[in-house]
Amino acid sequence: MHKDCERIMLTEEQLRSRVREVAEEVDKAYAGKRPLVVGILKGSIIFYADFIRHLSCPVELDFMAVSSYGSGAVSSGKLNIKKDLDKSAEGRDIIIVEDIIDSGFTLANLKALFLERGAASVVIVTLLNKKDRREYDIAPDWNCFDIENEFVIGYGLDYDERYRNLPYIGILKREVYEK
Ligand code: PRP
Repeated sequence: MHKDCERIMLTEEQLRSRVREVAEEVDKAYAGKRPLVVGILKGSIIFYADFIRHLSCPVELDFMAVSSYGSGAVSSGKLNIKKDLDKSAEGRDIIIVEDIIDSGFTLANLKALFLERGAASVVIVTLLNKKDRREYDIAPDWNCFDIENEFVIGYGLDYDERYRNLPYIGILKREVYEK
């Protein structure tokens, strides 16, 4: 385990098995369709790569990078698009793949944006759900793990751009972000 981890929350094996289970459910729901699978950079990359490898329907891959304007833990109310889709959303069945839903700001805005752009359907697949933190009326259609409000790192998730490459989800030691 990395020295900055308090403990491991989800092991590689737990991640592998649950991601596969959820991806297979999503795959069944998309039989006969050709969804546009949209990964939200950067936190989703490892989940995204593992998730799509369990889909047997023909998929097209695309990515967005977003942030909320302003700084601090409370969302400032406007989504900033740093990198937009390459493909048009119009008429597409869109699967948004996210590492974590917290306040729900990002996903509520993205879903509304794709529907405004004429998507035929939009669903949300998340790896982690911090249910207790929700401020916006949005829920994932599929979620792998409900978690408490802990500072989680690894499997794509960062603190100050570090730890994204850890193969498990760990809880960051308080002393690392409180110093
Ligand atoms: C994280 C996560 C979501 C968002 C969730 O992204 O990937 O996009 O925060 O929070 P919300 O539900 O309150 O909107 P972050 O800004 O940390 O960027 P990253 O994916 O590049 O790490």
